[in-house]
Amino acid sequence: MKKSYIWLPLLLLAATGCQQAAGEEEVKELTLAHNQPTDHPIHLSLNRFAELVEEKSDGELLIDIYPNGELGSEREVIENTQFGTVDISKVSASALEGFDPIYSIFSLPYMFESEESFKQVMADEEVTDEIYLNTTDIGFRGLTYYDAGVRNMYTKDRIIETADDMAGLKTRVQPSQTSVQMIEAIGGTPTPMSYGEVYTALQSGVIDAAENNETALVNSSHGEVAKHYFITEHAIVPDMLIMNDDTYSDLTEEEQQVIEEASEESTAYHEDVWAEMVEESVEIAKEEMGVTFYDMDKQSFIDAVQPLHQQFQEDPDTADIYARMKEES
Ligand code: GCU
Repeated sequence: MKKSYIWLPLLLLAATGCQQAAGEEEVKELTLAHNQPTDHPIHLSLNRFAELVEEKSDGELLIDIYPNGELGSEREVIENTQFGTVDISKVSASALEGFDPIYSIFSLPYMFESEESFKQVMADEEVTDEIYLNTTDIGFRGLTYYDAGVRNMYTKDRIIETADDMAGLKTRVQPSQTSVQMIEAIGGTPTPMSYGEVYTALQSGVIDAAENNETALVNSSHGEVAKHYFITEHAIVPDMLIMNDDTYSDLTEEEQQVIEEASEESTAYHEDVWAEMVEESVEIAKEEMGVTFYDMDKQSFIDAVQPLHQQFQEDPDTADIYARMKEES
């Protein structure tokens, strides 16, 4: 009893102190949107980002995450990030291509020879800063990237051994002109649509095929409706964390530093989470969903997309970034 009499006023004081501190410091809340379910590795890494921001700012900056495409498709959340109705979003680099052609470099098939060479390129801050800051004039900036693995083709029925087997195959691609051109180059029929529509489109036969990393089979259940997964390894498209540029500029220098550090650290955190989840996805897809993984003649795909490389080297929008990335890899 005695003890509680002593402690009660202290507890009350502490609680009031907390409120005052929060009031004095003025907590800033930022919204963050993405399109994956909460069991997807990217959600875990974005949670880590939010935790780091809170810790590093002593609770003064808070990130509210809206997963599952709750705030719209990637295209919609990019627009909302541009106009500031969403502060931060995680979107595929392919979806950003429609906003700035510099991002098309990531959808160029076989741009990177391996994941190692992709990581080597992305470790060069001069290259990434050029990309991240290229969009400040249209309202947003890149903060960091997250590994989203290697993309492969998957189908409902057709077996793909060479590029010839792609003939007429209705294949979903991201809303990216380069991805459309890729499918045309290998002989398929491209169907751009947002990620949230892919499951139903496969199920109903609107499309015959799609392309993505292995987590799509499990986290988005595509493996329920597409049972053939081909190791085409045609693209390494990272996820990008982008932020409204005015929201960023309105932060104090210390807060900007917090955002930068938390971005970088969450990218490093994501590396391990990602590798683990991909391995797990492959196992679940094979063992529990009955998806078959096939090797195929990758060279036939590489040969078919060569004209696109030529085009990127000549296009003034992409020539410089193409050359710099090739030099680095
Ligand atoms: C990947 C990527 C998503 C993207 C999706 C797609 O899963 O991480 O951001 O939406 O591909 O194919 O649309």
